[in-house]
Amino acid sequence: MKYSIEYIKSLGLNKSENNLKLLINIFNDSNDVDIKREAVSSIGRQNDLDGIYKFISEYAFKKNTIMEYIYQMFRTCLYKSKIDSRFESLKNRIIEFYNNETINKMNEFYNYKHSNKKTKKNKITTPLLLVGDCEETLKTLPENSIQLTFTSPPYYNAKIYSDYHSYKDYLEKMKNVFKECYRVIEEGRFLIVNVSPVITKRPGREFESIRYPIHFDFHKILEESGFYFIDEIIWIKPESCVKNRVGGYQQTRKALTYKPNCITESILVYRKKCSFLLDKNVSEYKFYDKFENEGIDTSNCWYINPRSDKNHPAVFPEELCRRILKYYSFENDTVLDPFAGSGTFGNVAYKMKRIPVMCEMDNKYVEIIKGGKINYDIRK
Ligand SMILES: C[S@@+](CC[C@H](N)C(=O)[O-])C[C@H]1O[C@@H](n2cnc3c(N)ncnc32)[C@H](O)[C@@H]1O
Repeated sequence: MKYSIEYIKSLGLNKSENNLKLLINIFNDSNDVDIKREAVSSIGRQNDLDGIYKFISEYAFKKNTIMEYIYQMFRTCLYKSKIDSRFESLKNRIIEFYNNETINKMNEFYNYKHSNKKTKKNKITTPLLLVGDCEETLKTLPENSIQLTFTSPPYYNAKIYSDYHSYKDYLEKMKNVFKECYRVIEEGRFLIVNVSPVITKRPGREFESIRYPIHFDFHKILEESGFYFIDEIIWIKPESCVKNRVGGYQQTRKALTYKPNCITESILVYRKKCSFLLDKNVSEYKFYDKFENEGIDTSNCWYINPRSDKNHPAVFPEELCRRILKYYSFENDTVLDPFAGSGTFGNVAYKMKRIPVMCEMDNKYVEIIKGGKINYDIRK
């Protein structure tokens, strides 16, 4: 007999001894994964706790059971554990038996939802400029006070302003900064980092220059700092704007000497780990920013011209900041750039009615930020 999902759902909605039996039969008879999963879900909706308990105890620990069914059974245990303690022990047995990431996440999510836990938020209401090493200055900010962080950290030893003893030291430093960012960012909000692979200057022609894929290594340190991966947006620049690396190959056509021109940078989008969905973050806003008259970026490739500046070697294009602010923050949010440079992100954020918090340790750039239009409260 062929069953439809709708039919099984309707059996789930109508609770009766007969429907429970019918659903268990469907689960046993069908070979279709979707049908069987829906049957498990509808079994969980029934009222007969003894029957449901017997069904789950019998099937949840069978060898080679499809995990989709186990997740549904576990879900039932979570919800029924409120009214029947047998399901609490069944739930714990399933957790122990499978030691499965999805099951653990479901459990964490459920516990959070029913804990009434409220994290205290702290509001920063005026623009702030923190002068000094951000690993230290960030410590002066209260926790849960930042709604969005966007930054472009020093690219290891690519420019004169950064100088680390080793790549390992560099990553360690970045991790310490990300951990501080984690503390100040509100639960569920985003940390967005602009990086790209970097090549270090070689000391002479006879030595090999080393290229580091910073964005690959950042994934690990961002995770270790408490964030999880959401997206990678690729910022694409016109080829005419980037360093020509392909010239050597173009002349000789010798294989192995090929080095393509790099026209992309990564925009790594991470979210601060928490046990609730993004919907909860969104629901805290009663109004929405209106960008009705502009198009939206439907793909993760953003074509934006780079910007050069006589005062700073690596400034953000304003358009990049604008899109990040548009997609990942609301008006009145407090937004942070821990490696502010000339303060581009702060300038755009302020224009878009956000409250900027900027950190910079180089006095030359601090002066540029101070000389701008924003009346920053300056802290050393
Ligand atoms: C890539 S630049 C950022 C440029 C910026 N996006 C702009 O639009 O001007 C990185 C900046 O981080 C600063 N910096 C590096 N290490 C720092 C640290 N530990 N604390 C604060 N600032 C730091 C550098 O002085 C540099 O200006």
